[in-house]
Amino acid sequence: MTTDIRAATLETLPDSEAVALRMADLLVEGILAKTDGPFRVALSGGSTPKRLFEILATPSRAKQIPWERVEIFYGDERHVPEGHADSNHTVGQSVLLSRVPVPAQNVHAIPTGGTAEEDAKAYEKTLQAAYGAMTLDPQRPLFDLVMLGLGTDGHTASLFPGQPVLKERTAWVGTAAPSTAPYERITLTYPAIQSSALVVFLVTGASKVEMLERLVEGDSSIPSARVTSEGRIIILADRAAVGEYP
Ligand code: 6PG
Repeated sequence: MTTDIRAATLETLPDSEAVALRMADLLVEGILAKTDGPFRVALSGGSTPKRLFEILATPSRAKQIPWERVEIFYGDERHVPEGHADSNHTVGQSVLLSRVPVPAQNVHAIPTGGTAEEDAKAYEKTLQAAYGAMTLDPQRPLFDLVMLGLGTDGHTASLFPGQPVLKERTAWVGTAAPSTAPYERITLTYPAIQSSALVVFLVTGASKVEMLERLVEGDSSIPSARVTSEGRIIILADRAAVGEYP
């Protein structure tokens, strides 16, 4: 049964550190509970997940995780050269993945060496190879966990307002050329995000108050509020982002 954002659980935490710690707990719980195959997680980009990555890389946390059973993907990527400071994988690699024993073959960075369309197609093939099929089965989600951020324009992943990719209902990966953020982007589409056992939004800071309220209310005029899941949706937000919202 598909879950939409109005059925999401909002967890309000004291601050961004508590949000990162809660996300780390959810990840460890999910990984340890998954015994019938690899735990496939799509990491979110931007600045919010950095603290989470630092926490997961600390020895006390890192040793809790059977990294050989974790497969790492990304929800989106800026279409910049490999190693670029603004690449989500550059951050993931430097803050987390280079510091934990996750097998290199388990890390699936979004390619950025071709055109955005070519790289989106290549990433879709990677996802299909990992999934073992070219059609998503609602009973067998592609991802065990999809982490998402929330932009101040209401975007999530690289599903930006007004972009054609918002209409994509078949492809698993698409491109975006946002007017409100730099770089062409490669992004999971709504169908790929929906193919999840759990979606977790990480939302911190006062700049997100308006969009968090619209997200929680299910205001479908913002892209993030159109996210669905075959499983659960949790919104982890700190007090600063929740503001005066009851
Ligand atoms: C990206 C992200 C994007 C991000 C939001 C929030 O590549 O930028 O995937 O969706 O999650 O813009 O960004 P912050 O965490 O920096 O506020």
